[in-house]
Amino acid sequence: MSEQSPSERAEKLRELINDYRYNYHVLNKSIMSEAAADSLKHELTQIEEEHPELITPDSPTQRVAGAPLPGFKQIRHSSRMLSLNDVFNEQELEAWAVRVAKLAPPNWIPEYFMDIKMDGLAAALVYKDGVLTQAVTRGDGFVGEDVTANIRTIESVPLRLRDPHTASNHEGEIADVSKFLKGRTEIRGEVIMYKEQFARLNQERAKQGLPLFANPRNLAAGTIRQLDPRLVAERPLQFHAYDLIRDNPAEVPTNDFAYKALRELGIIANPVAKLARTTKEIIEFANEWEEKRKDLPFNTDGLVVKVNDRHIFAVLGVVGKAPRAAVAYKYPAEQSTTRVKDIFVSIGRTGAATPVAMLEPVVVAGSTVQMATLHNESEVQRKDIRIGDTVIVQKAGDIIPEVVEPLVKLRDGSEKPFIMPTHCPECGTKLVKAKAGEAVWRCPNEQCPSRTWKRIQHFASKPALDIEGLGEKNVIALLNANLVKDPADLYTITKEDVLKLERFADISAGKLVEAIAAKRHPELPRFIYGLGIRHVGVQTAIDLAGHFHSLDNLAKTTIEDLSEVEGIGEVVAEAIVEWFEEPLNKLLIQKFKEVGVRPKEAEEIRGPLSGKSFVVTGSLESMSREAAGERIRSLGGTFQSSVGKSTDFLVVGANTGASKLTKADKFGIKQINEQEFLGML
Ligand code: IVH
Repeated sequence: MSEQSPSERAEKLRELINDYRYNYHVLNKSIMSEAAADSLKHELTQIEEEHPELITPDSPTQRVAGAPLPGFKQIRHSSRMLSLNDVFNEQELEAWAVRVAKLAPPNWIPEYFMDIKMDGLAAALVYKDGVLTQAVTRGDGFVGEDVTANIRTIESVPLRLRDPHTASNHEGEIADVSKFLKGRTEIRGEVIMYKEQFARLNQERAKQGLPLFANPRNLAAGTIRQLDPRLVAERPLQFHAYDLIRDNPAEVPTNDFAYKALRELGIIANPVAKLARTTKEIIEFANEWEEKRKDLPFNTDGLVVKVNDRHIFAVLGVVGKAPRAAVAYKYPAEQSTTRVKDIFVSIGRTGAATPVAMLEPVVVAGSTVQMATLHNESEVQRKDIRIGDTVIVQKAGDIIPEVVEPLVKLRDGSEKPFIMPTHCPECGTKLVKAKAGEAVWRCPNEQCPSRTWKRIQHFASKPALDIEGLGEKNVIALLNANLVKDPADLYTITKEDVLKLERFADISAGKLVEAIAAKRHPELPRFIYGLGIRHVGVQTAIDLAGHFHSLDNLAKTTIEDLSEVEGIGEVVAEAIVEWFEEPLNKLLIQKFKEVGVRPKEAEEIRGPLSGKSFVVTGSLESMSREAAGERIRSLGGTFQSSVGKSTDFLVVGANTGASKLTKADKFGIKQINEQEFLGML
């Protein structure tokens, strides 16, 4: 592992972060996600906190974003455009609220104003006597770029503020805003591009064979800094305001009032923004929008929470670049960076040998990640992931964490390439590839302890038999005590056996044995899924159960038969037949029978057509094919879409093609006409 000194590490981090920032801000190009860059910056901050002597004046931690670009007139802001500190969870939010309350006047009754944090770029619009005179980007917070001509192309930005007294709709005015039409009114907000419009633009570009834009924010940022306003006008931007500034701050007493006034003036302020009195209400709002954020027209990565009273807001002051009275509540980042401590090979229940990265623990999307799948040997080689590398890890939704890429620039030469073992690390059997050219190496030993363990765990898992109390650790304990070698053995375990294990006391042992016994007659789809046949997921298991009705039928099946089951392709069919042909699996099925495990026959409808299967060819006079299928199923029969060995009757309607008839002849299937068919119904 790395022998890098903190100073060397800090230097490398600075280089990479600067690279990221240069690409991002100057070239409007993204070399990694913002979350990954934040994660690197976090590591750098930590090193600098531990070793303050290492802080350099040019460290990215010491800098403010977005120095103004040459080409635009530079404008000094009337007051500094601040940024926000982030909080990432309830505790941090609570700590912020406590700090605020401590610094606020003692009679302050907590009241916060919350809005969605929009993912765009900040701009300040200046209106003089109600007329738009200037628009400036945030720049470094003190000085920004004059982008008035570009902002003027945004349809939703009024060139003259709306005067409620002359506007057609007088009713329902909420705030008295007439004074804002006199003198200087500054409106700050976010320039954004809606997701839908971004997608449409990219579709157009794809059609024209042009390179695609990375994301709406980059595109919005790139667009607003275009020197040619005609080009800007072709790209639909939006402006959503979050601040209203007057020379006399008392004219805007609260943030809630500011939003109402903005709307009266004809400016978009998010309608979902609202007040909260407690941090609990803030968390509720955050959770609600974390769920619903995909429905918003723009991207967001959190909320902005501010003290509602603007006088108190001002009194609380600024630390560094951020006001004390506001925070950004960020949703958990779905990417982060960390180090690969080691790479080992895990053997799955089907024998697949998967390289897995052991990581220095890191929080990704709200949970701590210590391992990430590397999929297979060629994936490790393709991405060139080495032991000791700093890597970007990501987790999207419930997906298992994965390594996106190594940060090659952070290498110090001590990283070691991963070498795929030739033999199973669990049982020593030589690893093989099922087919030449396949990416995945497998341990072919059906009795490999790792495979056994995972097979039993899979059998007991929630979507399979759902045996309570039979998690990973208990399965290992049963295996180590030699109580089980396969899932069928579970049913032979007694309470006395379990009691001998360290992990169990009287009650827990009894419970486990009962939980297993309770699953002696599992539902057929769950049981089929629980067998762990390659490629047979939950849905395929349901389809198979629906088609074959019993385990015995399924065990006898052929590739031919399987080709008639909706949704089952050749690869899956082969895997199923292979599984049931494997002698050890035959033994397992036998064993299940001996210990009294009998899956419930799949919701079999008993009726006059039970056990008979039908194919309908051509059109029937009395009913549609779908209706015929329904009738057959409702009477217990099976309705197949194509003729196979297992077909009993071919119903021949009018205008029949030849192929089904020929096949039926070949298999000696009985052919009946519509009249005969109706007779059977
Ligand atoms: S209020 C002191 N409200 O986030 C700054 N900002 O990290 C108070 N932003 O520079 C800003 N959506 O560009 C506020 N609903 C919202 C926002 C928002 C996005 C941006 C804004 C600001 C940055 C701070």
